[in-house]
Amino acid sequence: MSGCDDTPDIPGSPVEATGCGGDVVLETIDVSKCYDLGEIQVHALRGVDLRICDGEMLAIMGPSGSGKSTLMHLIGMLDTPTSGRIIVGDQDVSDLSPNRLAAMRNKEIGFVFQSFNLLARTSALVNVELPLIYSGVTGGKRSQRAKDALERVGLEHRLGHYPSQLSGGQQQRVAIARALVTEPSIVLADEPTGNLDTYSGIEVMMMLQDLQAHGITVVVVTHDEDIARHCERIVRLRDGHVIDEEIVADRLIAEQEAQEMTPEEAWE
Ligand SMILES: Nc1ncnc2c1ncn2[C@@H]1O[C@H](COP(=O)(O)OP(=O)(O)O)[C@@H](O)[C@H]1O
Ligand SMILES: [Mg+2]
Repeated sequence: MSGCDDTPDIPGSPVEATGCGGDVVLETIDVSKCYDLGEIQVHALRGVDLRICDGEMLAIMGPSGSGKSTLMHLIGMLDTPTSGRIIVGDQDVSDLSPNRLAAMRNKEIGFVFQSFNLLARTSALVNVELPLIYSGVTGGKRSQRAKDALERVGLEHRLGHYPSQLSGGQQQRVAIARALVTEPSIVLADEPTGNLDTYSGIEVMMMLQDLQAHGITVVVVTHDEDIARHCERIVRLRDGHVIDEEIVADRLIAEQEAQEMTPEEAWE
């Protein structure tokens, strides 16, 4: 019997993060994740109850190692929990086969990562086309959709540029275009501003707030309290538990912040 079958208790009572007050688009019910490394077991999540509402913008915060990325992987259907249930829409995805999980993921989820994860030898346009290739969209329709997505993030003049010819902020905007080109219902961003200067970070938050304004549910993992305050709700993790949930009172609006910054920092 593996040590992952038994989750040891740790001090501090977990909180249910259920306060989004709308239609639930994704729910985790008592979700645990344990990585069994043979000699040792890592209990990355220990019974997480989280509801994500349709169209909300949610921040997940917590110290390094608290389980944020593990939670993102589970709600993004990149992995399955050791125990507990994950419900997306009205479907239980906790133990779908890898193929069904991938199909569901490609339809519902867009990802943005801290390190952009663009293909280096491929233009911005083709990077954004890639998810459409996987979902079978062909020819002119595919490049038109990729162009539209790049236009949405203000990069219509950079279609042929390679990642190395773009600033970090621009690369992350390409990654956002790639995330939205499949028209997902949820965009998950894991430390999306972690490698960026303040201004580029604000720009990225502006894009994510814009996605939310267009009805997409946005979940942002961040270490940065200021970044989190661009969201409507903050859920805090520690040691694999939800320890706190907060509705953001004075939400920051990235577009306003960008306008207040110096012109030479402005994009393009
Ligand atoms: N693939 C993995 N294999 C083994 N342990 C892992 C793996 N991914 C994460 N962990 C461990 O799980 C815990 C939570 O990690 P993670 O979810 O990456 O936290 P965070 O994103 O908050 O820094 C850490 O102790 C980490 O070392
Ligand atoms: Mg992480």
